[in-house]
Amino acid sequence: MKLSNAVAFSLVSLPGAMAWGGLGHITTAYIASQFVSNSTEAYLKHLLRSNEPDYMAKVASWADSIRYTKWGRFTSTFHFIDAHDSPPESCNVDFERDCKGTGCVITALANYTEQSLDPSLPPWQRAQAAKFVIHFVGDLHQPLHNEDVARGGNGIHVKWNGRDFNLHHVWDSSIAEKWLGRGKPYPLAEKWSRDLTDKINAGIYSKEKDAWLADLDFSDPIETAMAWSRECNKLVCEYVFPEGPKAIVGQELSGEYYEKAAPMLEKQVARAGYRMAAWLDLIVDEFQKRDASFTGKRPAEDYEEPVDELAEEMEDYIGEL
Ligand SMILES: *[C@@H]1O[C@H](CO)[C@@H](O)[C@H](O)[C@H]1NC(C)=O
Ligand SMILES: *[C@@H]1O[C@H](CO)[C@@H](O)[C@H](O)[C@H]1NC(C)=O
Repeated sequence: MKLSNAVAFSLVSLPGAMAWGGLGHITTAYIASQFVSNSTEAYLKHLLRSNEPDYMAKVASWADSIRYTKWGRFTSTFHFIDAHDSPPESCNVDFERDCKGTGCVITALANYTEQSLDPSLPPWQRAQAAKFVIHFVGDLHQPLHNEDVARGGNGIHVKWNGRDFNLHHVWDSSIAEKWLGRGKPYPLAEKWSRDLTDKINAGIYSKEKDAWLADLDFSDPIETAMAWSRECNKLVCEYVFPEGPKAIVGQELSGEYYEKAAPMLEKQVARAGYRMAAWLDLIVDEFQKRDASFTGKRPAEDYEEPVDELAEEMEDYIGEL
C-alpha cells in the first residue's frame, strides 16, 4: 500500500497525466469537503486514512492515474458518456443509445455508489469505491465528458495562445489554468474552492444552489446522473460548439471563446462540488444505517488494499513513460 500510494502520487504529479484531473477535480473535491456533514467528514477521513483538510482533494484524480494501467483498463470507459447528438443544432443524451456496453460514467457512478455503502465489503473496497464516486461526479460536469463528437473533442485540433492543442485538453485544463493564473495545483485549487464556497453560501450561486439538488434522487442513481449529464451536455451546444464542430477546427480559443467559457466552467465546478457533498452525505447516512443492522459475515477490517498487482502495473507504466 505504501508503495502504491507513492506511485499513485507521483503519477498524479506528472504533467500531462492530470487531465480534468488537475484543477477541476481537486477543486470540486475541496468544495465538497466544505459542505459535507461532520459525520460524513469523520467517516471519510477514517475510510481514506487521512486527517488532513485535503483528504478528498488528494484522491480526486486517483481514477485518472489508474485508467491507463493494465489493472485499471476496465475503467477506461467509465469517465464519460458518448452522447451521439449533433451539436450545435441538437444536444441530447440518451442512456440506452449512448452508454457503452463496457460501462459509462452513468453506470460507473451507480456501481461505485452501491459499493461504497455496502457493509459486506471490506473498508479498502469501500474506500476505492468512494474515490471513484468523487472522481466521476467531477467528470459528469465537464461538457466534453458528455459528448461523442471526435472522441469528446480529443480529435479536434485548436489553438491556445498560438500553440496546438486538442479541444478536450482545452476544456480539461487550459481554460481553468488561464482563469486561475500560474501556481501549484493544490494551493490554486484550494483558493478557488474557498472562493466558490463563498459564492455558493452568500454570493452569486446562493439563490440557485437548492435548484442544483432538485434532480438528486438517491433511490435512482442512474436517473440522477442522467439529469446532471443532460444539463452538462446542453452546454456543448451553447459553449463548446456554438458554430458546430467543423467551424472550431484551428480556431484560437484563448480570447473571446475563453471569456464566454470560463464563467460557465466555474459554475460547473461549483455545482459538482456542492452535489458531491450532498451525494456523499447520503452515501454515509445509508451506509451507517445498513451497517448498524448488518447481520451477515463481517468483512475483515482491512484498510490496506491488496494491490501488489496494481503497484507492479503502475511501475511498469511509469517505466514506459
Ligand atoms: C461540526 O464541526 C464544527 C467544527 O469542528 C463545529 O463547529 C460544528 O458545531 C459541528 N456541527 C455539528 C452540527 O455538530
Ligand atoms: C462495478 O465495479 C466492479 C469493481 O470495480 C467492476 O469489476 C465492474 O466492472 C463494475 N461494473 C460496472 C457496470 O461499472
